[in-house]
Amino acid sequence: MPRKLAAGNWKMNGLRANLTEIETLAERHADSPIDILICPPAPLIAACQGTLLDIGGQDCHPATSGAHTGDISAQMLADVGATYVITGHSERRSDHGETDAIVAAKSEAAYAAGITAVICLGETLAEREAGTTLSVIDTQLTGSVPATATVQNTVIAYEPVWAIGTGKVPTLDQIAEVHAYIRAHLNARFDDGNKMRILYGGSVKGSNAAGIFGVPHVDGALVGGASLKADDFSEIITALEAS
Ligand code: PGA
Repeated sequence: MPRKLAAGNWKMNGLRANLTEIETLAERHADSPIDILICPPAPLIAACQGTLLDIGGQDCHPATSGAHTGDISAQMLADVGATYVITGHSERRSDHGETDAIVAAKSEAAYAAGITAVICLGETLAEREAGTTLSVIDTQLTGSVPATATVQNTVIAYEPVWAIGTGKVPTLDQIAEVHAYIRAHLNARFDDGNKMRILYGGSVKGSNAAGIFGVPHVDGALVGGASLKADDFSEIITALEAS
């Protein structure tokens, strides 16, 4: 069984005063049998050094350094203590026009820096309604997940775009169908594909977490809104620890 992972994506939320939420989580889950990751805004990452939780970035540039004003390299994230980076989040794909090829290049940059890429993919509502979900997922997996992906350097996050921040969650059968599809794709492409972690993301909360974690091939969650407060995220972590 892959080791479970509860990942929190703070997005563009959080100031130094909010670092106490991370300290509270680290104390509460000090002996956790699962991995717990927080991806705070980049300016807070250095201040998280020393925490017992894993810390990650929310994006990185494909290059190591250079004339790219405002961007951050994977090497820079690793330098301040990050061990993961989210790549290809749907908000990056839509706000910044990131293609599968860019997401793959960013993920390779993470590998080169020695950190794990959490590669995100998922269909829009229009794609689901058109019945093209699995072909969209297949295209994104093929284009965004580099050939050099391994169980150590890669986590996949399935996040239906229409479920992110909306309170709408797919049925457990819909989650099961996509996660089984992703598992089959990973098994076909990678020797250790059966051990690569596949997270579900999109409106995960304490109240729906246990059901989602009971679905085959769901190895954890990528959580946005409900990761901002230690009390809320702790409920999800507890559900994953018990699953
Ligand atoms: P949400 O966001 O939990 O607020 O829906 C999930 C994500 O975007 O990773």
